[in-house]
Amino acid sequence: MNPVTASAPGKLMLFGEHAVVYDHPCLVTAADLRIYVTFTPTDTSTVTVHSSTTPQPYTFDLADVAQPTQNYPASIAFVMAAVAQIAQQHPLPHGFELTTMGPPLSYGLGSSSAATVATVKGLAELLGLSLTDQELFHLAYQAVLNVQKKASGFDLAAAIYGGTTYFWTGGKRIEPLKVPQLPIVVGYSGSKVGTVSLVQEVYRLYQTLPWAIAPIFQLSEQIVEQARHCLLAGEWELLGKLMNIGQGLADSLGVNSWQLSRLIFAAREAGALGAKLSGAGGGDCMFALVTDQSRQPVEEAIEAAGGQLVKLPLNGEGVRLER
Ligand code: PMV
Repeated sequence: MNPVTASAPGKLMLFGEHAVVYDHPCLVTAADLRIYVTFTPTDTSTVTVHSSTTPQPYTFDLADVAQPTQNYPASIAFVMAAVAQIAQQHPLPHGFELTTMGPPLSYGLGSSSAATVATVKGLAELLGLSLTDQELFHLAYQAVLNVQKKASGFDLAAAIYGGTTYFWTGGKRIEPLKVPQLPIVVGYSGSKVGTVSLVQEVYRLYQTLPWAIAPIFQLSEQIVEQARHCLLAGEWELLGKLMNIGQGLADSLGVNSWQLSRLIFAAREAGALGAKLSGAGGGDCMFALVTDQSRQPVEEAIEAAGGQLVKLPLNGEGVRLER
């Protein structure tokens, strides 16, 4: 049997972070930072995982990998959770080597979700199973929940469908949108607080002050709906204003950071139509909406404020098998 390789893109959250965990929508676009997962069948009864982020491969007994809740090292937790999702339903007939490859720095732009999706897709192909995109989403989502407990799954939708997607918690609605090329500049703040701990912090805040947080989530939903319209119509000026309001909401949830703020204000002062953080917050990336004229000054301002420009094609292709 021949090796099988699947690849999937990362993501940039545009609008609706945190609220999307609590039954509200968000907008996400695929970032073409692809993770490749290769399955090489063997005649052993083991699974060996090679990851560019770990110095040594890990080997497991074929009989054990169907357990979804093993304590795997963090660097391979998502791919092993994805393997378990398939192995629980379809006994693995033989062993294999699984190799993941991706860029050395992922900027918090969705390398775990891309690896999870590419693993499910590749292993299904190796076993001759055909999965619809929806089935692929639900298997990958269950894998992520087994590792992370609380997550909306928006990043999996970006990895599967590519492009720009309107997404509702748990994949209740996943609507690929036909949007033009996004005039966006992305800046990396240089650090990261784990998504899981930020999601938990917002959860605790919601428990403590539901009367304050529920309306923020509700407003986030309205912003997402309006932003969806602006994206489809190319109404960039209004979209920029919505980004600034979205940033204010993220700040109210307590997930902004000094470094993100520096980059966001630098971008706005250099002429961006709007700027906000992307994702859980606490670090990772911000993005700014620019015109042809303001692109260069905004890029320079982000760098001068200590940010690193991330030049990735957005709106990229979803999961695919590599031939
Ligand atoms: O930090 P990121 O880019 O993985 O984004 C997390 C987005 C949240 O809404 C906070 C969590 C989620 O699962 O939707």
